[in-house]
Amino acid sequence: MEYSVKSGNAEKQRTACVVVGVYDKRRLSAAAERVDSASDGMLSALMRRGDMDGKLGQWLLLHNVPGTLADRVLLVGCGRERELGDAQYAKATANAIRSLESTGANEAVSYLTELGVKSRDTYWRVRQAVVTSQNAVYRFDRLKSNPEHSRRPLKRLVLGVHGRKNLHDGERAVRDGTALADGIRVTRDLANLPANICTPSYLAEQARELSKKNAHLEVEVLDEKDLKSQGMGAFLAVSRGTQEPAKLIILEYRGGGDKRPVVLVGKGVTFDSGGISLKPAAAMDEMKYDMSGAATVLGTLRAVSKLELPVNVVGLMPSTENLPGGNATKPGDIVTSLSGQTIEILNTDAEGRLILCDALTYAQRFRPKVVIDIATLTGAVIVALGNQATGLMSNHSSLAHDLLNAGRYTGDRAWELPLWEEYQEQLKSNFADMANIGGRDAGAITAASFLARFTKKYRWAHLDIAGSAWNSGKKKGATGRPVPLLVQYILDQVEA
Ligand code: BES
Ligand code: MN
Ligand code: ZN
Repeated sequence: MEYSVKSGNAEKQRTACVVVGVYDKRRLSAAAERVDSASDGMLSALMRRGDMDGKLGQWLLLHNVPGTLADRVLLVGCGRERELGDAQYAKATANAIRSLESTGANEAVSYLTELGVKSRDTYWRVRQAVVTSQNAVYRFDRLKSNPEHSRRPLKRLVLGVHGRKNLHDGERAVRDGTALADGIRVTRDLANLPANICTPSYLAEQARELSKKNAHLEVEVLDEKDLKSQGMGAFLAVSRGTQEPAKLIILEYRGGGDKRPVVLVGKGVTFDSGGISLKPAAAMDEMKYDMSGAATVLGTLRAVSKLELPVNVVGLMPSTENLPGGNATKPGDIVTSLSGQTIEILNTDAEGRLILCDALTYAQRFRPKVVIDIATLTGAVIVALGNQATGLMSNHSSLAHDLLNAGRYTGDRAWELPLWEEYQEQLKSNFADMANIGGRDAGAITAASFLARFTKKYRWAHLDIAGSAWNSGKKKGATGRPVPLLVQYILDQVEA
């Protein structure tokens, strides 16, 4: 979809549809007010009669409203005016897009971007509108023979800004928002693809494609022979059971001269059966999204390179399948990681930390400013936080603070869990330097505590996205999180 910004009055727009907000208690937004007076009070009459009372989630489509130049006027309920915050704004925007898709309009001018959202400015409202709209029109139907298309898909959305002085901020927001939305789409597509298509080799191929099509991106792919000569015994322990060759994909964005890079490490398990510690059958199909960390790194780099930001970012994506087999790693096996520390693998289903620990050691060579790993690491983080929040654990409080802030700004929220030394107790092994599981208690934290043993040399944060990266149930599919959080974090680095 094409986005642009415009300042001007709602009743004067010559377009297929004008979108205006109305509030609870029959209050009209400024744009709705103008349509109302141009039409001799049509909107207030409708609301008085009870056809629309302004509740969040409601909408009403009107045709040929007198005094206006648009074919249609869409009224969107925004709830209580005083309570219009980030979440309500996102809901109203998504509702508007969904209702527009059910009409014959292929373009619209929306005035929702002129609503007052608590402590948010024009830039935020426009950018968030672009991202929310792109997310709302997203479909993953490339593997269906007859995709269901809406009759006339929306092609153009013009976003209203208050007065010409806000046009510049609005245009900047459209540019940033479309780049971010593009990154989110890349991530959602990859995570939604089934594991028979999206293999480690496929991910490596996508990284190559990205680097061909985008500025300042360079790619390198290490194969199993390289991993072996490096000494990545933990990573290779996971790939033993599968026929698919494992890859360490390295994608570097160089836009920041000699600045120290932000290193992003993304878990790329393209299918997690659990290995010999096999998972139960129910919902095992969903374990195709166990590469969402890697997909997040690719999506984030896509956005960063599209914006040509003056930063350096390194993406490290260890990728493999986790399958059982005659050669597979067995519970009790002991392996030596790239760091030299030995690991007793008590459960082959705790494989994410095994591929990440070697990638995290490898990260040292980039002299990172910070290292952030992104992983669908534990079911326990879903028990703790559901799919509302990403679990955040870090060895550096100001890095944690910056990430939490980036999450709040974008509505892609994270929540911090403690990484106290005491949790290390749970990882003790009688036979090796550590075990790869820490028992039932505090599963998300013990997984991060395992990684912490490999990240002592730099500032590090861990994002457990097992909950936030995926919707189960009716809306089953990838969310594209936490691309918004990470892109915002990097944008904040540019300004700082
Ligand atoms: N990929 C899973 C974690 C996961 C679970 C992601 C559910 C998304 C939804 C991870 O590899 C795993 O299996 N973790 C185990 C760890 C346990 C064996 C210590 C888990 O969470 O059960
Ligand atoms: Mn697993
Ligand atoms: Zn896994």
